[in-house]
Amino acid sequence: MNSAKFSYSHDSIYIWDRVVRLCHWGIVTAFTVNYFIAEPGRLVHEIMGYAAMGLLTLRIAWGIRRRNSKSENSDTDFHASFSTISLSKHTFKTHISHLKRKQLPANHGHNPFGWLMFMVVIALLFGLGITGFMMEEIDALFGNSLLEWTHSIMADVLYGCVIVHIAAVFIVQYVGNIQLVRPMLTGWRKR
Ligand code: HEM
Ligand code: HEM
Repeated sequence: MNSAKFSYSHDSIYIWDRVVRLCHWGIVTAFTVNYFIAEPGRLVHEIMGYAAMGLLTLRIAWGIRRRNSKSENSDTDFHASFSTISLSKHTFKTHISHLKRKQLPANHGHNPFGWLMFMVVIALLFGLGITGFMMEEIDALFGNSLLEWTHSIMADVLYGCVIVHIAAVFIVQYVGNIQLVRPMLTGWRKR
Protein backbone atom coordinates (compact mmCIF):
# COMPACT_ATOMS: atom_id res chain seq x y z
CA MET A 1 0.00 0.00 0.00
CA ASN A 2 2.56 2.63 0.95
CA SER A 3 4.50 2.45 -2.24
CA ALA A 4 7.46 4.78 -2.37
CA LYS A 5 5.44 6.97 -4.75
CA PHE A 6 2.95 7.77 -1.99
CA SER A 7 5.31 7.69 0.97
CA TYR A 8 7.71 10.41 -0.09
CA SER A 9 7.62 13.85 -1.50
CA HIS A 10 10.67 16.07 -1.30
CA ASP A 11 9.65 17.67 2.00
CA SER A 12 6.76 15.55 3.34
CA ILE A 13 6.20 12.05 4.69
CA TYR A 14 2.98 10.05 4.33
CA ILE A 15 1.93 9.11 7.87
CA TRP A 16 -1.80 8.25 8.06
CA ASP A 17 -3.45 6.41 5.19
CA ARG A 18 -7.08 6.89 4.10
CA VAL A 19 -8.43 4.01 6.18
CA VAL A 20 -6.98 5.45 9.41
CA ARG A 21 -8.31 8.92 8.59
CA LEU A 22 -11.74 7.67 7.55
CA CYS A 23 -12.04 5.63 10.76
CA HIS A 24 -10.78 8.49 12.95
CA TRP A 25 -13.08 11.23 11.65
CA GLY A 26 -16.01 8.82 11.31
CA ILE A 27 -15.66 7.80 14.96
CA VAL A 28 -15.29 11.46 15.99
CA THR A 29 -18.57 12.24 14.18
CA ALA A 30 -20.39 9.24 15.69
CA PHE A 31 -19.22 10.08 19.22
CA THR A 32 -20.14 13.76 18.86
CA VAL A 33 -23.61 12.99 17.51
CA ASN A 34 -24.31 10.35 20.18
CA TYR A 35 -22.92 12.27 23.12
CA PHE A 36 -24.15 15.78 22.32
CA ILE A 37 -26.86 15.71 19.66
CA ALA A 38 -28.98 12.58 19.13
CA GLU A 39 -31.59 11.55 21.65
CA PRO A 40 -30.27 8.58 23.67
CA GLY A 41 -31.52 5.24 22.43
CA ARG A 42 -33.34 6.58 19.32
CA LEU A 43 -32.71 5.43 15.74
CA VAL A 44 -30.03 8.03 14.92
CA HIS A 45 -28.19 7.08 18.12
CA GLU A 46 -28.40 3.42 17.18
CA ILE A 47 -27.17 4.00 13.60
CA MET A 48 -24.28 6.19 14.75
CA GLY A 49 -23.32 3.70 17.47
CA TYR A 50 -23.25 0.76 15.05
CA ALA A 51 -21.40 2.86 12.45
CA ALA A 52 -18.73 3.55 15.08
CA MET A 53 -18.50 -0.22 15.76
CA GLY A 54 -18.09 -0.90 12.03
CA LEU A 55 -15.31 1.67 11.69
CA LEU A 56 -13.62 0.33 14.79
CA THR A 57 -13.69 -3.21 13.39
CA LEU A 58 -12.26 -1.95 10.09
CA ARG A 59 -9.48 -0.08 11.93
CA ILE A 60 -8.56 -3.19 13.93
CA ALA A 61 -8.52 -5.38 10.81
CA TRP A 62 -6.31 -2.74 9.19
CA GLY A 63 -3.97 -2.70 12.18
CA ILE A 64 -3.61 -6.50 12.17
CA ARG A 65 -2.06 -6.29 8.70
CA ARG A 66 1.69 -6.70 8.87
CA ARG A 67 3.85 -3.64 8.37
CA ASN A 68 4.64 -3.22 4.73
CA SER A 69 8.23 -2.14 4.85
CA LYS A 70 10.73 -4.95 4.60
CA SER A 71 13.53 -2.44 4.84
CA GLU A 72 14.41 -0.72 8.08
CA ASN A 73 13.45 2.61 6.55
CA SER A 74 10.80 4.08 8.85
CA ASP A 75 9.87 6.71 6.25
CA THR A 76 8.03 3.99 4.37
CA ASP A 77 6.61 2.26 7.42
CA PHE A 78 2.95 1.26 7.74
CA HIS A 79 2.33 3.31 10.89
CA ALA A 80 -1.21 1.98 11.34
CA SER A 81 0.08 -1.56 11.91
CA PHE A 82 -0.12 -2.98 15.45
CA SER A 83 3.24 -4.62 14.78
CA THR A 84 4.77 -1.14 15.21
CA ILE A 85 3.46 -0.92 18.82
CA SER A 86 6.18 -0.84 21.42
CA LEU A 87 5.31 -0.16 25.04
CA SER A 88 8.69 -0.96 26.57
CA LYS A 89 10.27 1.24 29.21
CA HIS A 90 12.87 2.19 26.66
CA THR A 91 10.24 3.50 24.19
CA PHE A 92 8.67 5.70 26.86
CA LYS A 93 12.08 7.01 27.93
CA THR A 94 13.07 7.76 24.34
CA HIS A 95 9.79 9.59 23.75
CA ILE A 96 10.28 11.73 26.89
CA SER A 97 13.84 12.56 25.88
CA HIS A 98 12.62 13.61 22.41
CA LEU A 99 10.07 15.87 24.10
CA LYS A 100 12.76 17.35 26.36
CA ARG A 101 14.85 18.11 23.30
CA LYS A 102 11.71 19.61 21.74
CA GLN A 103 12.11 17.50 18.62
CA LEU A 104 9.99 14.44 17.91
CA PRO A 105 11.06 12.41 14.86
CA ALA A 106 8.95 13.34 11.83
CA ASN A 107 8.83 9.77 10.48
CA HIS A 108 7.12 8.18 13.54
CA GLY A 109 3.45 7.18 13.95
CA HIS A 110 1.88 7.13 17.41
CA ASN A 111 4.08 7.69 20.43
CA PRO A 112 3.66 5.08 23.23
CA PHE A 113 1.18 7.27 25.15
CA GLY A 114 -0.80 7.61 21.92
CA TRP A 115 -1.00 3.82 21.56
CA LEU A 116 -2.14 3.48 25.18
CA MET A 117 -4.88 6.02 24.59
CA PHE A 118 -5.82 4.17 21.39
CA MET A 119 -6.37 0.96 23.40
CA VAL A 120 -8.46 2.70 26.07
CA VAL A 121 -10.64 4.45 23.47
CA ILE A 122 -11.18 1.20 21.54
CA ALA A 123 -12.15 -0.68 24.71
CA LEU A 124 -14.61 2.04 25.77
CA LEU A 125 -16.22 2.24 22.33
CA PHE A 126 -16.64 -1.53 22.20
CA GLY A 127 -18.09 -1.42 25.71
CA LEU A 128 -20.60 1.20 24.55
CA GLY A 129 -21.47 -0.89 21.50
CA ILE A 130 -21.99 -4.07 23.54
CA THR A 131 -24.06 -2.47 26.33
CA GLY A 132 -26.02 -0.44 23.75
CA PHE A 133 -26.72 -3.61 21.75
CA MET A 134 -27.86 -5.44 24.88
CA MET A 135 -30.27 -2.64 25.87
CA GLU A 136 -31.62 -2.21 22.37
CA GLU A 137 -31.85 -5.76 21.02
CA ILE A 138 -32.42 -8.03 24.03
CA ASP A 139 -36.00 -7.48 25.18
CA ALA A 140 -35.38 -8.82 28.69
CA LEU A 141 -32.69 -6.19 29.22
CA PHE A 142 -34.68 -3.21 27.95
CA GLY A 143 -34.65 -0.51 30.65
CA ASN A 144 -32.09 -2.45 32.75
CA SER A 145 -30.72 0.21 35.06
CA LEU A 146 -27.29 -1.42 35.57
CA LEU A 147 -26.76 -1.54 31.82
CA GLU A 148 -27.94 2.05 31.40
CA TRP A 149 -25.63 3.15 34.17
CA THR A 150 -22.62 1.25 32.69
CA HIS A 151 -23.35 2.66 29.23
CA SER A 152 -23.58 6.22 30.48
CA ILE A 153 -20.45 5.93 32.70
CA MET A 154 -18.45 4.57 29.73
CA ALA A 155 -19.69 7.46 27.59
CA ASP A 156 -18.61 9.98 30.26
CA VAL A 157 -15.18 8.34 30.74
CA LEU A 158 -14.70 8.35 26.96
CA TYR A 159 -15.58 12.04 26.89
CA GLY A 160 -12.91 12.64 29.56
CA CYS A 161 -10.37 10.67 27.47
CA VAL A 162 -11.30 12.67 24.38
CA ILE A 163 -10.61 15.95 26.19
CA VAL A 164 -7.22 14.63 27.39
CA HIS A 165 -6.54 13.30 23.87
CA ILE A 166 -7.25 16.62 22.13
CA ALA A 167 -5.22 18.57 24.72
CA ALA A 168 -2.33 16.08 24.40
CA VAL A 169 -2.35 16.36 20.60
CA PHE A 170 -1.94 20.15 20.74
CA ILE A 171 0.58 20.11 23.62
CA VAL A 172 2.78 17.41 22.01
CA GLN A 173 2.51 19.14 18.64
CA TYR A 174 3.78 22.38 20.20
CA VAL A 175 6.38 20.99 22.64
CA GLY A 176 7.65 18.29 20.26
CA ASN A 177 7.81 20.71 17.35
CA ILE A 178 5.98 18.26 15.08
CA GLN A 179 2.85 18.33 12.91
CA LEU A 180 0.18 15.97 14.32
CA VAL A 181 -3.18 17.38 13.21
CA ARG A 182 -2.18 17.90 9.55
CA PRO A 183 -1.32 14.22 8.90
CA MET A 184 -4.63 13.16 10.49
CA LEU A 185 -6.39 15.52 8.04
CA THR A 186 -4.37 15.11 4.84
CA GLY A 187 -2.15 12.08 5.50
CA TRP A 188 1.04 14.09 5.07
CA ARG A 189 3.53 15.57 7.55
CA LYS A 190 6.10 18.19 6.65
CA ARG A 191 9.59 17.21 7.76
C1 HEM B 1 -14.56 12.04 19.68
C2 HEM B 1 -13.39 12.51 19.62
C3 HEM B 1 -12.14 11.72 19.27
C4 HEM B 1 -11.86 10.39 19.38
C5 HEM B 1 -12.77 9.27 19.94
C6 HEM B 1 -10.52 10.20 18.90
C7 HEM B 1 -9.86 9.00 18.85
C8 HEM B 1 -8.61 8.79 18.30
C9 HEM B 1 -7.99 7.51 18.08
C10 HEM B 1 -8.64 6.14 18.41
C11 HEM B 1 -6.79 7.73 17.53
C12 HEM B 1 -5.81 6.65 17.03
C13 HEM B 1 -5.98 6.62 15.51
C14 HEM B 1 -5.56 5.34 14.84
O1 HEM B 1 -4.44 4.85 15.04
O2 HEM B 1 -6.39 4.77 14.10
C15 HEM B 1 -6.61 9.15 17.40
C16 HEM B 1 -5.50 9.77 16.89
C17 HEM B 1 -5.42 11.12 16.65
N1 HEM B 1 -6.41 12.07 16.86
FE1 HEM B 1 -8.19 11.74 17.66
N2 HEM B 1 -10.01 11.41 18.48
C18 HEM B 1 -10.98 12.36 18.69
C19 HEM B 1 -10.93 13.70 18.39
C20 HEM B 1 -9.86 14.31 17.81
C21 HEM B 1 -9.82 15.71 17.42
C22 HEM B 1 -10.95 16.71 17.60
C23 HEM B 1 -8.58 15.92 16.87
C24 HEM B 1 -8.01 17.20 16.32
C25 HEM B 1 -7.63 18.15 17.06
C26 HEM B 1 -7.86 14.67 16.92
C27 HEM B 1 -6.59 14.50 16.47
C28 HEM B 1 -5.93 13.30 16.45
C29 HEM B 1 -4.56 13.16 15.98
C30 HEM B 1 -3.67 14.28 15.45
C31 HEM B 1 -4.24 11.81 16.11
C32 HEM B 1 -2.88 11.14 15.78
C33 HEM B 1 -2.00 11.36 16.97
C34 HEM B 1 -0.61 10.84 16.69
O3 HEM B 1 -0.01 11.30 15.71
O4 HEM B 1 -0.16 9.97 17.43
N3 HEM B 1 -8.66 13.72 17.49
N4 HEM B 1 -7.75 9.77 17.87
C1 HEM C 1 -20.38 6.00 20.01
C2 HEM C 1 -20.94 5.19 20.85
C3 HEM C 1 -22.01 5.63 21.84
C4 HEM C 1 -22.02 6.72 22.68
C5 HEM C 1 -20.96 7.80 22.84
C6 HEM C 1 -23.26 6.66 23.44
C7 HEM C 1 -23.66 7.57 24.41
C8 HEM C 1 -24.83 7.52 25.13
C9 HEM C 1 -25.22 8.46 26.14
C10 HEM C 1 -24.40 9.67 26.61
C11 HEM C 1 -26.43 8.08 26.60
C12 HEM C 1 -27.26 8.77 27.70
C13 HEM C 1 -26.99 8.10 29.01
C14 HEM C 1 -27.78 8.73 30.14
O1 HEM C 1 -28.98 8.92 29.97
O2 HEM C 1 -27.16 9.03 31.16
C15 HEM C 1 -26.83 6.88 25.89
C16 HEM C 1 -28.01 6.18 26.06
C17 HEM C 1 -28.41 5.10 25.33
N1 HEM C 1 -27.69 4.47 24.33
FE1 HEM C 1 -25.85 4.98 23.68
N2 HEM C 1 -23.98 5.55 23.03
C18 HEM C 1 -23.24 4.90 22.06
C19 HEM C 1 -23.61 3.74 21.39
C20 HEM C 1 -24.82 3.09 21.50
C21 HEM C 1 -25.24 1.93 20.74
C22 HEM C 1 -24.38 1.19 19.68
C23 HEM C 1 -26.49 1.62 21.14
C24 HEM C 1 -27.39 0.50 20.70
C25 HEM C 1 -27.71 0.29 19.51
C26 HEM C 1 -26.87 2.56 22.17
C27 HEM C 1 -28.08 2.55 22.84
C28 HEM C 1 -28.44 3.42 23.85
C29 HEM C 1 -29.70 3.35 24.56
C30 HEM C 1 -30.82 2.33 24.33
C31 HEM C 1 -29.67 4.41 25.48
C32 HEM C 1 -30.81 4.80 26.41
C33 HEM C 1 -30.59 4.42 27.78
C34 HEM C 1 -31.57 5.20 28.61
O3 HEM C 1 -32.78 5.11 28.32
O4 HEM C 1 -31.11 5.92 29.49
N3 HEM C 1 -25.84 3.45 22.37
N4 HEM C 1 -25.83 6.57 25.00
